[in-house]
Amino acid sequence: MNEAAKYQTTDTLDRSIRDLRVSVTDRCNFRCIYCMPREIFGTGYKFVPRNDLLKLEEIARITRLFAGHGVRKVRITGGEPMIRRNLERLIEMLRDIDGVTDISMTTNASMLTLKRAQSLRAAGLNRINISLDAIDEQTFQRINDVDFPVAKVLEGIDNAHAAGFDTMKVNAVIRRGYNEHSILPLAQHFYGTGIVLRFIEFMDVGTTNKWNLEEVISAAELVEIIDKEMPIESLQPNYSGEVAKRWRYSDGGGEVGFITSVTQSFCGDCSRARLSAVGKVYTCLFAATGQDLRGMLRAGASDEELSRLIGRIWSQREDRYSELRGQIPVTTETPPRVEMSHIGG
Ligand code: GTP
Ligand code: 5AD
Ligand code: SF4
Ligand code: SF4
Repeated sequence: MNEAAKYQTTDTLDRSIRDLRVSVTDRCNFRCIYCMPREIFGTGYKFVPRNDLLKLEEIARITRLFAGHGVRKVRITGGEPMIRRNLERLIEMLRDIDGVTDISMTTNASMLTLKRAQSLRAAGLNRINISLDAIDEQTFQRINDVDFPVAKVLEGIDNAHAAGFDTMKVNAVIRRGYNEHSILPLAQHFYGTGIVLRFIEFMDVGTTNKWNLEEVISAAELVEIIDKEMPIESLQPNYSGEVAKRWRYSDGGGEVGFITSVTQSFCGDCSRARLSAVGKVYTCLFAATGQDLRGMLRAGASDEELSRLIGRIWSQREDRYSELRGQIPVTTETPPRVEMSHIGG
């Protein structure tokens, strides 16, 4: 069945649904201090039991139904997505969905051997974004909190390149007091490589990372720090709804980006839905609750029934958290926001 353009579903703010971020596991081999702090995600933390995870076929089916509502881009996330077994099989299934034109993955690159990079490429993965918050060993290990060596991540990036991934992005979350000294070394490292480095403002996702505004280094500040040493100029977005603001080195050294969720929100044309590893749909990164699809799916619902639910979820959507940040009163009744590791950013 051709799902590609069945419905033109929009939300209450007239935003279409174009991207689906699919978390394939809530587990990670890192314990980044701002994402899965050890005090909470250490021994005793209850990760999702295997049977509760959506099966690969279930993910592919749900994605196909989302494609019927307009989804074109699918991003595989985690936790760390490469932990999930048979990821290549999932990518092959996603590749065959009518309407899906771009399949990408966000990973920490720790498992990106040449062989894996090649098999992911062969399966149909188009793009890889890699998380890397520092280039010096001490800072990187302090952040990943599992003594993972930075050289292995850089090796993963090289492997992806060798396997034919030529439009890679590196994401660096900058948090004051932790890694602001990494801003220039990261920029220098990726200058002239063709890899787009993107600096991310530290966001108040979840509840376990003890976020506070003082630790946010704004994009304006980041631009100033880089521009002083390595002059940059702003570029037009590639497409409406793009997450990162694009800049380029004035001397032709390539592109650099800034993800400004805290200081300049981009909810206006946000076209992203998120599917958690247990089959809940979240219509915002900062949502407290998701709507369960797995229950209905496993109870034998038809494609039409599931698709109707997806349409209803999106058409009722009114999220614009980043725009409203600070204006929403937090009370003891406020439910905790979903953790980053459940919905993959
Ligand atoms: P590209 O398609 O390559 O541009 O990827 P992307 O930037 O959409 O995805 P990626 O996983 O690389 O995310 C980079 C950062 O942007 C992460 O910190 C995400 O949490 C954040 N991000 C992505 N989408 C949204 C969004 O809709 N809202 C907010 N606030 N942050 C987002
Ligand atoms: N703020 C900003 N980015 C974050 N990420 C994880 N937690 C946060 C946060 N609190 C990033 C990861 C990864 C992407 C999916 O989200 O570093 O690059
Ligand atoms: Fe794992 Fe990424 Fe979270 Fe770090 S930021 S703990 S690599 S999911
Ligand atoms: Fe979209 Fe929510 Fe992010 Fe705004 S805060 S851009 S609505 S995911």
